[in-house]
Amino acid sequence: MELTIKPLHPLFVAEVAGLDIRDPLSPEIQDQIQNLIDQHGILIFRDQNISDDQQVVFSRYFGEIEIANSKHNITKQENRRLSNMFADISNLNKNNEFHEKESRQRIFNLGNRIWHSDSAFRPNPARYSLLSGREVPSKGGDTQYADMHTPYERLSPEMKELIEDLRCEHSLMYSRARLGMDYFTEQEKEDFKPVIQPLVRTHPATGRKSLFLASHAGRIVDWPITEAKLLLEELTEIATQREYVYTHKWKRYDLVMWDNRRTMHRGTRFEDTKQKRDMRRTTIAGDPA
Ligand SMILES: [Fe+2]
Repeated sequence: MELTIKPLHPLFVAEVAGLDIRDPLSPEIQDQIQNLIDQHGILIFRDQNISDDQQVVFSRYFGEIEIANSKHNITKQENRRLSNMFADISNLNKNNEFHEKESRQRIFNLGNRIWHSDSAFRPNPARYSLLSGREVPSKGGDTQYADMHTPYERLSPEMKELIEDLRCEHSLMYSRARLGMDYFTEQEKEDFKPVIQPLVRTHPATGRKSLFLASHAGRIVDWPITEAKLLLEELTEIATQREYVYTHKWKRYDLVMWDNRRTMHRGTRFEDTKQKRDMRRTTIAGDPA
């Protein structure tokens, strides 16, 4: 079957039709998808009514699945709704009920609504994320994506020189603290210790450079904290201007695959204590940036 490709934005994002991801992929189709994700950064597959197992099988064509664990989330193993192959991006607890308005898990999850790159707080940040919309709200709950290549390429030579060798500290505690969540247990403080990532990274497939930003970035190594935060704010503002952003309005059974090495994303507002948003993410582990 022939794949049909429809670009959805001048800089990145393409919709791919002509594929049922429940079927095994031939090596040729696998290569084509690999080339498409390298080229477009975000691929959208519509009408993929898949099981968790089918999502895992499809994901594994593109690398090793990152295992979810309590070192990178406040959810304890016994409270997980999904297997450890999945990051649970829903607003539901293990009984498939809404999180309470004041629950710590809900407050923690609200951190997904500020710009980030998945697992930037891990020593090996995520390569791809594959997010399956099993149930979507009737209004809101979009995912917005920002391209990180073009804003980098359009920076002034002086700014490029300034940031070329900078290294940032990333931690889940920094992103949550931005939203006023500042209580962490001693165990969480240990588990969420910052990791160091470069501010500028080079994509291994295309050789293009990009800004490696995320709300998890809270410090720049050897910089005064205030100056570091100012620069990160400034770059984030530049990188998330409208011309660099694509907004995905979810339809049930969409599967969106994105490359975290050249994009950031965030969720948008919806009635999360009234409408179900059951999104399940498999994540392909990356290499050190
Ligand atoms: Fe995310």
